[in-house]
Amino acid sequence: MPALPPPTLVIRNIGELLTMNGERTIPSATGSVGIISEAALVARGERIIWLGPMAQLDEIAFESSETPPQIIDAGGKVVTPGLIDAHTHLVFAGDRAGEFQQRHAGASYEEIQARGGGIASTMRATRAASYGELVALARERLRSMRAHGTTTVEAKTGYGLDRESEERLLTVAVHFAAETDLPQVVPTFLGAHVVPPEFRADRAAYVRAVRDEWLPAFAGRAAFCDVFCERSAFSLDETRSILSTARRLGYHLKLHAEQLSRSGGAALAAELGATSADHLDCAGDADLDHLAAAGVVGVLLPGCSLTLNTPYPDARRLIAHGVRVALATDFNPGTCYCENLQMMVALGIAHMGLTLPEALLAVTRHAAAALALADRGTLAPGLRCDLALWDIPRHDAIGYHFGVNLVTGVVIGGRPHPPAPPVSSWEPCAPSSR
Ligand code: NIG
Ligand code: FE
Repeated sequence: MPALPPPTLVIRNIGELLTMNGERTIPSATGSVGIISEAALVARGERIIWLGPMAQLDEIAFESSETPPQIIDAGGKVVTPGLIDAHTHLVFAGDRAGEFQQRHAGASYEEIQARGGGIASTMRATRAASYGELVALARERLRSMRAHGTTTVEAKTGYGLDRESEERLLTVAVHFAAETDLPQVVPTFLGAHVVPPEFRADRAAYVRAVRDEWLPAFAGRAAFCDVFCERSAFSLDETRSILSTARRLGYHLKLHAEQLSRSGGAALAAELGATSADHLDCAGDADLDHLAAAGVVGVLLPGCSLTLNTPYPDARRLIAHGVRVALATDFNPGTCYCENLQMMVALGIAHMGLTLPEALLAVTRHAAAALALADRGTLAPGLRCDLALWDIPRHDAIGYHFGVNLVTGVVIGGRPHPPAPPVSSWEPCAPSSR
């Protein structure tokens, strides 16, 4: 084997390296989870260049370099791909703790929305916030997500609901693409979240503004377009008209579908070739067959069920129909104020019928598919070096030991956070010295 280029990062003494693909696998109904015991992983820049059993590391020849690589000793603990949160409403101001209490006193989510609360209440706080305030709020949340092992975050607009405010939210999301120390942000335009109060008398005019003015203006800045297809938000026809235009403009598509009622959104997602259909709590069997046939990823959001005290979506049923299942937080101020994807893994196992390998695939490989990202979610040479470093010797503690943070650090694009302490024991095996 020819010498590999000089490494910039070496992680050794990994107790279990979960590659989420490849040989040495734990099978599951939704794919195999590759696992290498006593492993090492080597990166150059933002890419992985080698991984395998620790015992083989000394046999690999690396070209020498003036600059020694950073070394991390994983202490015999677990390393997985960085977690991918494929559905969040990252950027907003204010909170809705009061509504949370009202719901526990008996009011429903839709009743509160009809009274002018809910999404409209966050809209008012978000419109009043400056760009700088929104950046600061999003940064804190991204730091919290990173601390819990997340290295890629989808971020929706949808709390501005006028041209200027939606653009501000999108600009905040795009801003973080340039910050290499934080999770990578994938921006989604969700102008069709609800019809804002000033358009209630003429909702068709709002749909036209989103479709004919904002979508063309934001093309190229948002990777995805999403619509909340729901009786209290946008009808099936409105959703079709917005998403068909988005598709022509080059957006990938997502839908909030079948969350509070059966809307037909899942079948529409299949018809339009959406990348994912999200929520799916009320999806019927035929809906799931459509999603499976079209290869649409089902993104399930158990934090909403926990918060709203509603039944959990049945992940086993999706899997039985052949739908790929991802799990995400849905981080937002109304239905899931939680940055921690580990918690969704625990809920997925406890309440949704997922096995541990399936739940891990749902926040790595299948979550990457829900964002149409082919360079992450599994570990192999050539892929991004995005990792979660866990404080557990075996991965079977994940989901079992819950409600605490089991992650001690991450690597994002080959850069450790928190930064690795300097260790200078690396002696590259230059080809000439062998
Ligand atoms: O995914 N369903 C619509 N949007 C969010 C809720 C947003 C909110 O209540 O602020 C969701 O659950
Ligand atoms: Fe959502």
